[in-house]
Amino acid sequence: MEPPNYPGKLFRHNARMAAAGVRVRLGGRPKLRKQARAAMKTLGGGLGYAALIEPQWIETTQVTFGIRDFPSSINGYKIAHLSDLHYNIAAGKNFLHRVVKKTNSLDPDMVALTGDFIGSDPRKLDRCMAVLSDLRAPDGCWVVRGNHDHRATVDHMRAACREAGFHFIENTHRIVRPSRRHNHHDAFIERDDDTAFTIAGVGDLWEGDCRPGVALQGSDPNLPTVMLSHNPHMLELLLPHQRVDLVLSGHTHGGQVRPMGRHFRVLCDGSTKYVSGIVESNKTRVYISRGVGTSAFRLRWNCRPEIALIQLHRTEDSPGVIPPHSGSGAG
Ligand SMILES: [Fe+2]
Repeated sequence: MEPPNYPGKLFRHNARMAAAGVRVRLGGRPKLRKQARAAMKTLGGGLGYAALIEPQWIETTQVTFGIRDFPSSINGYKIAHLSDLHYNIAAGKNFLHRVVKKTNSLDPDMVALTGDFIGSDPRKLDRCMAVLSDLRAPDGCWVVRGNHDHRATVDHMRAACREAGFHFIENTHRIVRPSRRHNHHDAFIERDDDTAFTIAGVGDLWEGDCRPGVALQGSDPNLPTVMLSHNPHMLELLLPHQRVDLVLSGHTHGGQVRPMGRHFRVLCDGSTKYVSGIVESNKTRVYISRGVGTSAFRLRWNCRPEIALIQLHRTEDSPGVIPPHSGSGAG
């Protein structure tokens, strides 16, 4: 029987034939068949790229922030910022070794780790920390937890940090006295003065542990302050009298999948404001990392895993941001 020519009739004819167990061919429509095949190939290729290539394709972003009263003897102080590692099969031991190697090659003064070390399995925390313990920075590695890290207990996290030699600073602060400083030629010499700044950390906002007031209690308002917070929405909780010059955050993964550079709000904690990069408020600035790993679904599109190298400089007037530039590499 000849198939009908009209699309509607053709569809019903094919459906009837298929229901009767007769092999249906898109006869007389080679163009349609070709287009369908090309579309399937593009979709398959795109999914393959998003699942296998981009999540492994680490990008190094460099951002410089001007900070009021920042000690000029440590101008150019470097903080390597890692977030949302989500240690799992896709972002496992080998991948994390590459992240550590790449981070160490940036020669940071300190490393800031802003949470979500694991996905859903608390047993992976120790494995993740064991790899991260190879991170090298003269002023150490500083840690706060993300919402996923609450699958493990706080004692577990404290013990894992202790074992790795990291500083766990949830809802507290410390004074950092840098162990080296930069001279005009960007070389390092040993510290010989009282140069210092404050590093503070807060717990996760979703888990109800985000207490900036507690974290900054007793801190010196004359010292520049950098704060670690997994969730960037923490900015809304800061009060005008609390001195925080810069917040480092993660949590959103930059949206993970960004067709044509646009993010899906649902993948960014419902936010259109706090997605990735620099966001400024009237109180302070936050740098939001796109994160290293993936969660929920293991895809990245137009949103590569990120190691951010944050550089701090003294500024005499209002704090500023020197536009970021990226260095990329397959890592
Ligand atoms: Fe995360």
